[in-house]
Amino acid sequence: MGQLFTDLQAVRLDVEANAVIILEQTSLPGEKVYLSLSTKEAVWDAIHRLKVRGAPAIGITAAYGIYVCCKSLRARKFDDFYKGFVEIRDYFESSRPTAVNLSAALERMERCVLRNRELPVSRIKRQMLREALAIRDEDAASCHRIGVYALSLLRPGMGILTHCNAGHLAVSEYGTALAPVYLGQQQGYNFKVYADETRPLLQGARLTAYELRYAGVDITLICDNMASVVMRKGWVQAVIVGCDRIAMNGDTANKVGTSGLAIMARHYGIPFYVLGPTSTIDRRCPDGNAIVIEERGSEEVTDMWYARRMAPDDVKVYNPAFDVTPANLITAIVTERGIARAPYNETFERWFGEEEKDSAETGSKTEE
Ligand code: MRU
Repeated sequence: MGQLFTDLQAVRLDVEANAVIILEQTSLPGEKVYLSLSTKEAVWDAIHRLKVRGAPAIGITAAYGIYVCCKSLRARKFDDFYKGFVEIRDYFESSRPTAVNLSAALERMERCVLRNRELPVSRIKRQMLREALAIRDEDAASCHRIGVYALSLLRPGMGILTHCNAGHLAVSEYGTALAPVYLGQQQGYNFKVYADETRPLLQGARLTAYELRYAGVDITLICDNMASVVMRKGWVQAVIVGCDRIAMNGDTANKVGTSGLAIMARHYGIPFYVLGPTSTIDRRCPDGNAIVIEERGSEEVTDMWYARRMAPDDVKVYNPAFDVTPANLITAIVTERGIARAPYNETFERWFGEEEKDSAETGSKTEE
């Protein structure tokens, strides 16, 4: 599977050059351009402008980015080094608010710094490198396991509707929502995938259609307002989406348009699955009301992708980038730890307990 994507990597770290390398996603599918990011401003801009996007890929970029920027810090005393770290952390956190993976990755890098505060700064930097690479590797392993669990919910020949891009381009490898599609492809499931174009930034048309075509999957592109048509025709047996932040009660923030799909899926009796790593579950967020929804510029709605502006100059525009799907419309949430069904709190608490146990065990083995 990995080989399928060797020349299509959303984010990687060039240790020699001390730079984060991203595949510039706003140029896809027309051009495949890689950017090298080595300053905090360049990392911030890449995340903010969606040159790299998708919740896990944003988290990995932030982890690599804070390592790269801290490596260049001249501080020799821990307190000075930590001050520099905090400045970069706060700056990165301001780039996009909704995907929890961004702050979760930065918090994990901070824990690594604080745990190693007694070491010389040069060795703290080495620990940061290990931690950032571990975040990436764990994401790849999680995506694969999500794919295995989710595939157990699907049958050969099914029609699958997906929204936005929760595939290889949004993570380290495989994807979240698209992981079972790739695994099914390898095992001859012959899924028929319908990709919503996903207004206004067209992640479905530009990215999902691109990467699934690249992998030889049977993919049909539809406009967002056509989802109900393909459902009514009986062409869709499952809706599968990714997620940017899952509240403890199961309410889920994902690309705007997701909640509408969930409502339609309920109407037509189609299962609606959310797929994502447990790092997307926010322990501090009891329900969807606590999720901050990013609002973006009006030009994304009025001008972007059109040869000329398509709305009156003075029209008011509302452009929320995400919406919240209530837990009661979600059939199951699939993570690397398994498949959760309502009530979600209980399963999430159990998973967090398991995670703490695992990381205590791994931590004691890998500490210097
Ligand atoms: O604005 P984007 O492109 O970062 O939004 C991405 C999504 O909403 C994805 O569905 C989500 O991040 C899951 S990525 C595996």
